[in-house]
Amino acid sequence: MIDFFSAKNGILHAEDVPLTHLATEFGTPLYVYSQASIEYQFKTLSDALKKHLPADRQPLLCYACKANSNIAILSLLKSLGSGLEIVSEGELARGLKAGFEGQKIISTSFGKSKAEISACLDTDILQFNIECVDELNSISETAKAKNKQADVVFRINPDVAGGGHDKINTGRKEDKFGNNADKILELYKLAESLDNIQPVGVSVHIGSQVFNVQSFKPAFEKLAEIVKLLRSNGHEVRVLDIGGGFPIIYNDENNLDLDSYAQWVRDIILPLDVDIQMEPGRYMVGNAGVLLSRVEYIKTTDVRQFMVLDSGMNDLIRPALYESFHLIEAVEHRDAEIETYDVVGPICESGDIFAKNRQIQNVNAGDLVVFRSAGAYGYTMASNYNSRPLPAEVLVSGNQYKLINKRQSLDEMMARESIPEWVK
Ligand code: LLP
Repeated sequence: MIDFFSAKNGILHAEDVPLTHLATEFGTPLYVYSQASIEYQFKTLSDALKKHLPADRQPLLCYACKANSNIAILSLLKSLGSGLEIVSEGELARGLKAGFEGQKIISTSFGKSKAEISACLDTDILQFNIECVDELNSISETAKAKNKQADVVFRINPDVAGGGHDKINTGRKEDKFGNNADKILELYKLAESLDNIQPVGVSVHIGSQVFNVQSFKPAFEKLAEIVKLLRSNGHEVRVLDIGGGFPIIYNDENNLDLDSYAQWVRDIILPLDVDIQMEPGRYMVGNAGVLLSRVEYIKTTDVRQFMVLDSGMNDLIRPALYESFHLIEAVEHRDAEIETYDVVGPICESGDIFAKNRQIQNVNAGDLVVFRSAGAYGYTMASNYNSRPLPAEVLVSGNQYKLINKRQSLDEMMARESIPEWVK
């Protein structure tokens, strides 16, 4: 992997821009993204697919924007040729604002609201990925009322564990996602009988941060099995959505073996003669982002040395929620002696901890540090907990940079609230 964040003259840069400069201009906590990194990831995946699959059978890459849904990032991915995977009315609105056309958008949300279904139909999205009978009926009713046609695919549950943490596994029998072969057959049959619905295929997504590439293979084999079953029962299958889940580098993991992955697509999926779709999220943006934070204080106790930051679990919840590892580095004084810290935020919970016993360059109050690999599921999972305003976001390209999301002000944070007149 090429690293788009590197030290120049002793200061960590995002491409050609010193992070110290961005912290001074925009304050901290600040999410900083490298455009070149996103372009590189998109190209790396596309090139691997081009290498192993014929030109006229290239998958449609639908970026899963839950990973990072800033409209500048979405516009960038659109300019690279990406489609979009959405899971809410809000993500659809962002996609449209970024200029995606409906025919490049797929909706995979689990519990689609009526408003979302309606907005998706108004936009003539490419397809709905469906979980259950009620959802199918709901789409049929709304499509009928609007005199629209909805192409649908059904999500299978391959009973494969793939995700990098219990909470981000989605393809095991006990998970809420997907359906077994019998159920898919039933859903397909029903769909064919419903008004304004056209069943076109099946989908799978086994989880996120799937670092063992081998896990994709049994999931693909299960897909192929179900396609054959559907066809032998007289159903037409012309689309396969093979999901997302590609891992990124958080610490010292190996790069994803894209060659093996693309070869399985070639050997297992291609012969099924279907349009192929993919939904990578994290892979496109994860390594492209850092969360820049300032050290507020160093607090020492009998047993610990705490590095207290100005960012908390409300800004980056992954360590608290999934025990996930993010590399933490000093932005300046990078050759300082290594110290052991517990890195914590200012939130009033012991769970507001980013790292325990972590070896980091010696820092003092006022110094800057970064969390690496924070471009995916960082800002999108941020909250106002402890009434802390949402952080700002900046996009860097070479020596250019631009604020792509202003820091939330205190007034903005409270703007939608009101006091009932009977409360004095
Ligand atoms: N497609 C579907 C149907 C999904 O549910 C997801 C992610 C993706 C695609 C994209 O997966 P990716 O390529 O990004 O792995 N908040 C967690 C990750 C949750 C992923 C949810 N679904 C985290 O911070 O690790």
